[in-house]
Amino acid sequence: MLRTHTCGELRIQDVNKRVALTGWVQRLRDKGSLLWIDLRDRYGITQLFLEEGKSDPAMLQSARQLGREYVVRVTGTVAERLSKNDKIPTGAIEIKLESIEVLNKSKTPPFTIEDNTDGGDDLRMKYRYLDLRRSPVREGLQLRHKMAQQTRAYLDSLNFIEVETPVLIKSTPEGARDFVVPSRIHHGEFYALPQSPQTFKQLLMVSGFDRYYQIVKCFRDEDLRADRQPEFTQIDCEMAFITQEDILATFEGLVRHLFKTVKGIDMPSVPHMTYADAMKYYGSDKPDTRFEMKFCELTDIVKGKGFQAFDQASMAVGFCARGCATYTRKQLDELTEFVKRPQIGAKGMVYLRYEENGTLKSSVDKFYPPDELRKWVTACNAQPGDLILVLSGETDKTRKALGELRLYVASQLGLRDKNTFSALWVIDFPLLEWNEETSRYHAMHHPFTSPKREDLQLLDTAPGEIRANAYDMVINGTEVGGGSIRIHDRPTQQLMFNHLGFTEEEAKKQFGFLMEAFEFGAPPHGGIAFGFDRLCSLFGGADSIRDFIAFPKNNAGRDTMIDTPAAISQEQLNELGLDIQPEK
Ligand code: AMO
Repeated sequence: MLRTHTCGELRIQDVNKRVALTGWVQRLRDKGSLLWIDLRDRYGITQLFLEEGKSDPAMLQSARQLGREYVVRVTGTVAERLSKNDKIPTGAIEIKLESIEVLNKSKTPPFTIEDNTDGGDDLRMKYRYLDLRRSPVREGLQLRHKMAQQTRAYLDSLNFIEVETPVLIKSTPEGARDFVVPSRIHHGEFYALPQSPQTFKQLLMVSGFDRYYQIVKCFRDEDLRADRQPEFTQIDCEMAFITQEDILATFEGLVRHLFKTVKGIDMPSVPHMTYADAMKYYGSDKPDTRFEMKFCELTDIVKGKGFQAFDQASMAVGFCARGCATYTRKQLDELTEFVKRPQIGAKGMVYLRYEENGTLKSSVDKFYPPDELRKWVTACNAQPGDLILVLSGETDKTRKALGELRLYVASQLGLRDKNTFSALWVIDFPLLEWNEETSRYHAMHHPFTSPKREDLQLLDTAPGEIRANAYDMVINGTEVGGGSIRIHDRPTQQLMFNHLGFTEEEAKKQFGFLMEAFEFGAPPHGGIAFGFDRLCSLFGGADSIRDFIAFPKNNAGRDTMIDTPAAISQEQLNELGLDIQPEK
């Protein structure tokens, strides 16, 4: 080994030990007769020390020529520091150098490699391997490693086995576009990269594996956001001979195990909320439950008093912001501007201040005298000092808009603390979802999800009202995982494909293998997949999943470091039988 210790290891007890360290030169401080070097590796920073008159003059001279990020091996003796740095674990010692060997030089890095860097996003992405030398980014990956280890430990202890499924496959519908790979041997034919291993894990259940998991890459060609990457990782799981309750209990167990072992947090048991309630009370299928601010429906109370916006609306709904009666006109105008943004889509906002002294002051006093406003107060269970915010319009859109306003106000009030965690199971999702663009129903989860038996009679009359045996785990308003109990017989699966607009032929061509497998003794089964990157970023207290992925894509889906996607040569195109000209 080139080193006896790492740069994060030496303490006051090691004084007088002769050591060899390797690492990168983070910083050099030259005070004339005294010279300090901060040497950094994955484990920490150790201070090196040279002194004119005491250290070897040749070594002193070569030390002065070290540049940032030079890779060196040094030897020396551990000494107690005169002025200690209690901010780092090695802060009580320094190494009195005896030799310095430059293992490799470095160009001046394009940004400072310290916790707070001067590098912008683009630069750091281009030089990701340098960004990864910085502690905050490295710690993200260390957290990810620990999460993966603990996931494996938990699932292994419950008899789950990890099975790898193929990456060159055929389309699996998860609602995004496929990335495709052209076949060289079969011109005009393509593999698709898996949006998830869904069909394979179901086939493994037919094979009798009964408890499967895989920490697996998935690929989805969809618009990128802070919590979405075109290639991302799932903790993908499936179980046979189980009920929905078994699945929820098993994977609530996984999440609680991760909180306990990775963050030292004892998570309370995870409550269940139906999709219908989530929409009714929070205007979202992934409510942030770190705080209350539940919706109160005011439609019946407010209609018929001459206020047009409410009279014409199918829904008037509000929530109570505790202690916000003191909001100024400017603050309220700003909230109105927020809900009127095109992404939110509300036409306006009504407020009611319930002042500390009991006075009621609303933006619609003209239509609602105090005795009417008092009904709002009762419906919303408002206390003196509270502010009620109300939106109105078409039911679904109004709830969603109010859901956004709820999050916005909660952020302003500091109620979305990254170190507080609130998990929730959202259950009983609708089976189908109407798609305006295609004018037909799509599977809300995926077409393999089983409907609730008692709702199946609605298939021809009200398909949108059929509930599925589908569930999501939501933590702090982020969907971290989702799954369902599957269909496991051919007739039901066929029926589902018919209702999703597949002809019998199409269904057979795409999923004939699965339906055939169902005819060979498929056990009842179900499962779930967690977004592993999302779980990691949540545990790490970050908004974006990027820093928990070693080499992520940027917002435009590019990897600017290796410069991809990129054109390929005409020769490759010819081999693949792709008749397009590469871009010059
Ligand atoms: P679903 O499509 O809900 O279910 O995906 C499961 C979880 O994966 C995460 N996720 C993503 N994370 C980062 N970037 C993306 N582009 C991205 N897309 C999804 C989310 C989501 O909850 N086969 C089913 C699971 C099952 O039914 O068992 C599936 O893939 O956190």
